[in-house]
Amino acid sequence: VQAINETNRGPSGIINVPTRLLMGPGPANAHPRVLAAQTLPLLGHMHPPFLKIMDEIQGGLRYLMQTDSKYTLMVSGTGHAGMEACIANLVEPGDKVMVGVSGIWGERVADMSRRFRGNVIELQAQLGSTLSYTTLKENLLQHKPAVLFLCQGESSTGTHQSLAGLSEICKQTNTLLLVDTVCSLGGVPLFADAWCVDAIYSGSQKCLSGPPGAAPLFFSQKAMDKMQRRKEVPATYNLDLNLIGDYWGWFGKRFYHHTGPVSTFYAMREAMALVAEEGLENMWRRHNEMHHQLWDGLKSLGLQPFVENDADRLSTVNTIKVPEGVDAMALIKNAMDKYDLEIAGGLGPTAGKVFRIGVMGFNAKPQNMALVVEAFKDGLKQQGKLKA
Ligand code: GLV
Repeated sequence: VQAINETNRGPSGIINVPTRLLMGPGPANAHPRVLAAQTLPLLGHMHPPFLKIMDEIQGGLRYLMQTDSKYTLMVSGTGHAGMEACIANLVEPGDKVMVGVSGIWGERVADMSRRFRGNVIELQAQLGSTLSYTTLKENLLQHKPAVLFLCQGESSTGTHQSLAGLSEICKQTNTLLLVDTVCSLGGVPLFADAWCVDAIYSGSQKCLSGPPGAAPLFFSQKAMDKMQRRKEVPATYNLDLNLIGDYWGWFGKRFYHHTGPVSTFYAMREAMALVAEEGLENMWRRHNEMHHQLWDGLKSLGLQPFVENDADRLSTVNTIKVPEGVDAMALIKNAMDKYDLEIAGGLGPTAGKVFRIGVMGFNAKPQNMALVVEAFKDGLKQQGKLKA
């Protein structure tokens, strides 16, 4: 008989997690009601009361995304799973996919689209700005892609891509508009139907005050038609939206595809209720006001936004230039050690160039903005970069 190896037994005792204020690009702190929902007893993933909770989530997503489309659901996975579900189901081999790149998320969508054998055309925005309507229009008319990808909120650069006015051109060129709203959904205006957006994916752990692990997703009827006209099934079983859609009741009956993350979906049901109770406009306004409060404080310390043009600046993830001679890592460490406060550094093209501060969901409130400003003040002072 093989002896059991008892030397490496893994953890024992009760888990111990420090309490931190997560003011980076996400996860943000979850709302206490959302966390409480996760502690409720498990239901079976096909039990009617659980299916009802899934239906409630779908209704909440329709409100959040301002759509009447029947095709909303939560992908069981992070924002990346939402991204991959959209691409795997919308892109057929050889399809032209035009990808707006204003940071790491565009780069990732381009990479993913190639993996699903799309013919990718990248449109690179200048670092720290977004793609203009004119550039988008010219390129759409020239290439007539099957899919145009834009990232509404680029968390790596802190840019806010406008989606305005694209619907007419997309109609003309028969292009589906796919939008990443991982760090923007619930924080900035979005009107899926009125703006003729065809597919959206998002994340649970940012403006929605949920835990990571569920990806809001929306398809328009046009996107659904393209998906259903595919010559081949998508090259993924796990993220096949025909199958996942069946689990969520998109086509009438409900079939087992995978075991939904029951507790995470409870959390997201609660997150949807919080959105409904606050009201979308109030939520957008709160994020915008907190963004301005944050910048009033940061500017009073002499800090400058990385995104120079006001119209391109995202309110939910804020990129702050690291001033000449400031040790960014030391400032970040001081904030964590002294205030249990997360300030993030840059990512991808902004690595080493910026600090990033999230103004998202449960965390978007005045006292948190004040604490972030206080931590920057203290960090700069310690480095002799601020007069006493
Ligand atoms: C993750 O979303 C990040 O921007 O770091």
